Amino acid sequence: MLADKIRFAFVTCQDWPSGHYTAYRDLLHNDLDLVCHLGDYTYEYAIDSTRRGIPAPTGFEEECRDLRTYRLRHTLYKLDPDLQAAHARFPFAVIWDDHEVANDYSGVAPENPVFLTGDWHSTFVNDLKLDFKDPRARTVATEFVTPAITTGGDSTPYGPYYAPMVPYNPHIKYYEGDRRGYFKATITPELMELDLRFMTSVEDADGTGYTERSFVVENGVPGARPA
Ligand SMILES: [Fe+2]
Repeated sequence: MLADKIRFAFVTCQDWPSGHYTAYRDLLHNDLDLVCHLGDYTYEYAIDSTRRGIPAPTGFEEECRDLRTYRLRHTLYKLDPDLQAAHARFPFAVIWDDHEVANDYSGVAPENPVFLTGDWHSTFVNDLKLDFKDPRARTVATEFVTPAITTGGDSTPYGPYYAPMVPYNPHIKYYEGDRRGYFKATITPELMELDLRFMTSVEDADGTGYTERSFVVENGVPGARPA
């Protein structure tokens, strides 16, 4: 029998030294069928400091370069209790991290596809057009760019970096550059409902989550609207 709805979260970019996995702790309050990880599960960079209130662990002074150092890096990430709890609770679908935009895709309906993406370390909700140069081009799909779980920590240059171009891109319906978190979604045959969850902090281990915005995509109606 087919389920009448599916509930899932999509996440990305969990640089360990950037902060605590408060977003995964927040995730545990939900009853999800799946967590889609869109990439940057680990980062290969040398770790010379952390925003976790602890010194850099020894043994990670150099960038990963071979199987041993990548395995060690994976071990470090997997020791995090919040990440462990999320894996114990939910099935994960994980796309390889390669520092490129990893596109997951969820077709709500053939005439109204929704693209779930990440790795911008920022949050976007975009109308997608066949021709972005034509301001009259109709919207054919929607893109939700999920924020980073931790990458960038609590204060980052992403907001000032990307925000100035937003007014010149009217297909961008929502933008935020300086908060970490994730999207969670519920899909039924008629509707896709999304909550954008931001964390009060990833550098404070006691940071909590709150719903910043909610969006709806209706079957057969391209584009997202505020819920
Ligand atoms: Fe990333």
